[in-house]
Amino acid sequence: MKTRTPLVMANWKQHGSEAALTDWLTSVSAIDLPEICRVLCVPLPYLAKLRQQRAELQSQVQAGAQLVSAFRGGAYTGEVSAAMLSEFQVAYSLIGHSERRQWFDETASARRGQLSALWQAGITPVLCVGETALEHQQGQTCEVLMRQLAEVLDGQATAGPLVLAYEPVFAIGSGKPLSAQSAQQMHQQLRLMLKRWYSAADCQRIRILYGGSVNNQNAGEYLRQDDIDGVLVGSGSLQAGAFNALCHAV
Ligand code: G3P
Repeated sequence: MKTRTPLVMANWKQHGSEAALTDWLTSVSAIDLPEICRVLCVPLPYLAKLRQQRAELQSQVQAGAQLVSAFRGGAYTGEVSAAMLSEFQVAYSLIGHSERRQWFDETASARRGQLSALWQAGITPVLCVGETALEHQQGQTCEVLMRQLAEVLDGQATAGPLVLAYEPVFAIGSGKPLSAQSAQQMHQQLRLMLKRWYSAADCQRIRILYGGSVNNQNAGEYLRQDDIDGVLVGSGSLQAGAFNALCHAV
């Protein structure tokens, strides 16, 4: 039996507005679901509104960020540090999302810096990993995942709190999710891979989320798998009604 609290993360990507945030959070917060942890990752400008609304609504929904700087502070125009995110009560931050890798050329060194910056600020990193369609077809998935973990976790002074998100790139936004059974196999592998950095007990505690075309129809099936501890949801999280249905299905 799983002892890890299910984690359902909404990633709004570059969508939303202050008005949409108010409506969404009001609707989602009205539903009491203490048995799962819900997180909303908004674009950075909405973090202040999210903090205010969470307080007003006494919401169970936690605040998440979609990106963070590897730098602690200084002359780095445009960057937002982990310490700044903390001021907005951000509890989780994505790093290594495939869209950051693809469109913004984020390097392994940046990801490594982001991870340690988050740990220093007391924010839990959600490290996204996943293979491309070609790598999948060529049977390189395990090799790719191990490399993506190692390039971030190797050389860290300590192994801090972590959430992993397995998102096969071809499943993101395609309407073609990986089957729950195939995802389970990869999650099991990922949990084994983590032993290189974490104790056996910690590996059992670390939550591994599946992401890629998750919706309220298929979410429950993922959560029924032994090593799938939650979901990272993009388009299926934008409408509060659909997100609420998804959370009920978990
Ligand atoms: O971060 C979540 C994401 O990449 C999956 O997106 O739209 O396929 O749920 P989507």
